[in-house]
Amino acid sequence: MKDLGNRRQFLKTTALAGMGVGLTGGKLSAISGLNAPSNKVVVAVMGVAGRGRALAESFARQDGSEVAIICDVDERAIERVSKSAANHQDKMPMGEKDIRKVLERDDIDALVIAAPDHWHAPASVMAMQAGKHVYVEKPCGHNPREGEILIEAQQKYGKVIQMGTQQRSDHRSIEVIQMIKEGIIGEPYYGKAWYANTRGSIGKGKVAEIPSWLDYDLWQGPAPRVDYTDNIIHYNWHWFWNWGTGESCNNGTHEVDVCRWALGVDYPTRVTSSGGRFHYDDDWEFYDTQVMSFDFEGGKNITWEGRSCNGLQFYNRGRGATIHGTEGTVLMDRDGYIVYDHDSNEIKRNMKDEQSDQLNTVGGGGMTDVHIRNFLGAIRDGESLNTPIDEGHKSVLLCHLGNIAQYSGKTLECDPSNGHIKDAALMKKMWGRKYEKGWELKA
Ligand SMILES: NC(=O)c1ccc[n+]([C@@H]2O[C@H](COP(=O)([O-])OP(=O)(O)OC[C@H]3O[C@@H](n4cnc5c(N)ncnc54)[C@H](O)[C@@H]3O)[C@@H](O)[C@H]2O)c1
Repeated sequence: MKDLGNRRQFLKTTALAGMGVGLTGGKLSAISGLNAPSNKVVVAVMGVAGRGRALAESFARQDGSEVAIICDVDERAIERVSKSAANHQDKMPMGEKDIRKVLERDDIDALVIAAPDHWHAPASVMAMQAGKHVYVEKPCGHNPREGEILIEAQQKYGKVIQMGTQQRSDHRSIEVIQMIKEGIIGEPYYGKAWYANTRGSIGKGKVAEIPSWLDYDLWQGPAPRVDYTDNIIHYNWHWFWNWGTGESCNNGTHEVDVCRWALGVDYPTRVTSSGGRFHYDDDWEFYDTQVMSFDFEGGKNITWEGRSCNGLQFYNRGRGATIHGTEGTVLMDRDGYIVYDHDSNEIKRNMKDEQSDQLNTVGGGGMTDVHIRNFLGAIRDGESLNTPIDEGHKSVLLCHLGNIAQYSGKTLECDPSNGHIKDAALMKKMWGRKYEKGWELKA
């Protein structure tokens, strides 16, 4: 490990900055970093059934961090992942089901959030208010307003907050985006993104007794209460508006983000969507087939095609993006890139020899490790984040807008300075959400 003294000092400095915020905001708990027992960034991981397990193991593997708490409302997941994280570090993490108790602790520097989407922004804000840094999975909000609240909270509390679009930290992606910026395909004007999977039906749920291993009230947290049904937990909540954000925000976020990065665009002027739930007659509320299109100022456009239940690949890839320019095209995915000239001749390639598992829904691996090291570097050494929350929000917002266009059946005209929908009634109805009483969200 390098330069431990500086790192310890940086943790102290950020903790002191947090304390300053805490004193003005009346949050004395913000002094947590001062009391960290080691010079490592000490993290708690919230939500570990799927993605959270990969994150807990990755944080445990890094020299610069330690997983002290595994937080889940499923007691089986706590036990499983405490053990699996302990395989990668010296200490066995503690288990705790209530995130509010985790955030009271002074020995936690950062919260890692891989709970369902309706928890992302509320848990992030609670963590920053308690003086913690935040690694939050995509999408950073359950609805557009929550992304804005996260940006406001980051500015107010001054903490490091990174969103989990790990391809932003991939060295091949960084390399080809740099080449695009330097003109290798002329002026980039169009990004085409896609995702294909073969998901099965989720059936029709029945109201059932809450399993003994689950605290369902805490699982619902900020979301308005509904009866427990037997086809939601785990994972299938993704397809319900009360908790999830559909395939567009689930998987679309990653490659829409890549396109936005490559084209250098921020908020759209116009959004359309077509598609539907075509495959099964079941409870799934979002769309298994969706084509979203986003226009930007300067004559640029991004499209995303999502097929949750039809696995036909484009260019032999279940997910990826092509970036089209006036003088050529880039094909890029999580394994690397190929650059073509205007006549579609290959002129450059940096692609892994072996293709990654295209249907992997947990997304572990090297890219996530590097993204986490970038987050730790930002906390310890002031490194620039690869997905700071304002950038994460812009990409997630596009996917929310795609869902709103699909739901309303309307073409959305948007304000290119902030992505707000010009249709006032739709803006009012769809920009935010209703919260369970006592869980209202403010920065
Ligand atoms: N970056 C990536 O590549 C990637 C990959 C997969 C998933 N994700 C994201 O990770 C998140 C989790 O997805 P998943 O597929 O693992 O979902 P999941 O339903 O399988 O797991 C969520 C876990 O969170 C727990 N949980 C719910 N409420 C909680 C609370 N209040 N406190 C503590 N734990 C709580 C659940 O019990 C469960 O164990 C999603 O937002 C998803 O979009 C990101």
